[in-house]
Amino acid sequence: METENQNRITKLFGIKYPIIQAGMIWCSGWELASAVSNHGGLGIIGSGSMYPHILEDHIQKCKAATDRPFAVNLPMIYPDIDQHIELILKYRVPIVFTSAGNPKTWTGMLKENGIKVVHVVHGVKFALKAEAAGVDAVVAEGFEAGGHNGLDETTTLTLIPMVKQELQIPLIAAGGIGTGRGMLAAMALGADGVQIGSRFVASHESSAHLNFKNKVVETMDGGTKLTLKELTPVRLIKNDFFQRVEAAYQRDATVDELKELLGRGRAKKGMFEGDLTDGELEIGQIAGLINEIKPAAEIIDEILAEYAEARKELGTGKFQF
Ligand SMILES: Cc1cc2nc3c(=O)[nH]c(=O)nc-3n(C[C@H](O)[C@H](O)[C@H](O)COP(=O)(O)O)c2cc1C
Repeated sequence: METENQNRITKLFGIKYPIIQAGMIWCSGWELASAVSNHGGLGIIGSGSMYPHILEDHIQKCKAATDRPFAVNLPMIYPDIDQHIELILKYRVPIVFTSAGNPKTWTGMLKENGIKVVHVVHGVKFALKAEAAGVDAVVAEGFEAGGHNGLDETTTLTLIPMVKQELQIPLIAAGGIGTGRGMLAAMALGADGVQIGSRFVASHESSAHLNFKNKVVETMDGGTKLTLKELTPVRLIKNDFFQRVEAAYQRDATVDELKELLGRGRAKKGMFEGDLTDGELEIGQIAGLINEIKPAAEIIDEILAEYAEARKELGTGKFQF
């Protein structure tokens, strides 16, 4: 889509606004991805919670619902990744966001097939490794973010300028961005675009259970914590399950005990089936600013309007410095 106002990210993906809806297990299927792409952003199908036949269905439905570019997120720890890759090639998905693994593994092959590749990182060293592997852009995700995160606890405010200083290719900021002011701040720090997860969980088109969406709206500052670092660090709402994890830490539980406590299928139970007591509820710190469940298009419009207003304010006397 050609518009007058283009930057490195809009040009790279052929989209109108540098707003990317994050790939999110149990929350971002074809309905959300196509709604975002149809409204000028980049929608991403989160394949990490999908069996291959489910992913196939989502790709087909997404293609039918939009003629604009969309992406698939591939967490590389996923056991059936070969089958996911086959589907991406079969349906000519134009863009892939890889995460949780080595960017060298798939980037070359995907790019040889004409697919744009973006890799998600949590630190400068990994951003440079992704660049060296030949990716087209990097997502740098800070400590505030929902979902699985880096061990180093580097915040978005510090991570983005540090990565920007070293990286040549386009940079997408993620973690704690849910408003136009947040987006402007990320762009001021050097990002070319933003990846937004939590805010889109609370959208009509997100496949999250309504109980979880309502819980996100209720969650205030201090309502989440990064935990289970010994397994894979994840930011969770402080519900009953989270309190059980905290109690396990209090009694110096071993890694095996933590694994047993986590068990299997808890993310699905919490986010997809709406079990707010026993489920894992993954969300970012920005939940404290999310007050309503809205259509994805409205979320994008609101972010863009606030971005434009904040940008204008910066040139006025309202800002004293
Ligand atoms: C519910 C949820 C599920 C997520 N699942 C994934 C995933 O499957 N793969 C991935 O790379 N990142 C995942 N993330 C991280 C997002 O892609 C994104 O980088 C993050 O949400 C950005 O921070 P924010 O939540 O503050 O907007 C998830 C985040 C959330 C909130």
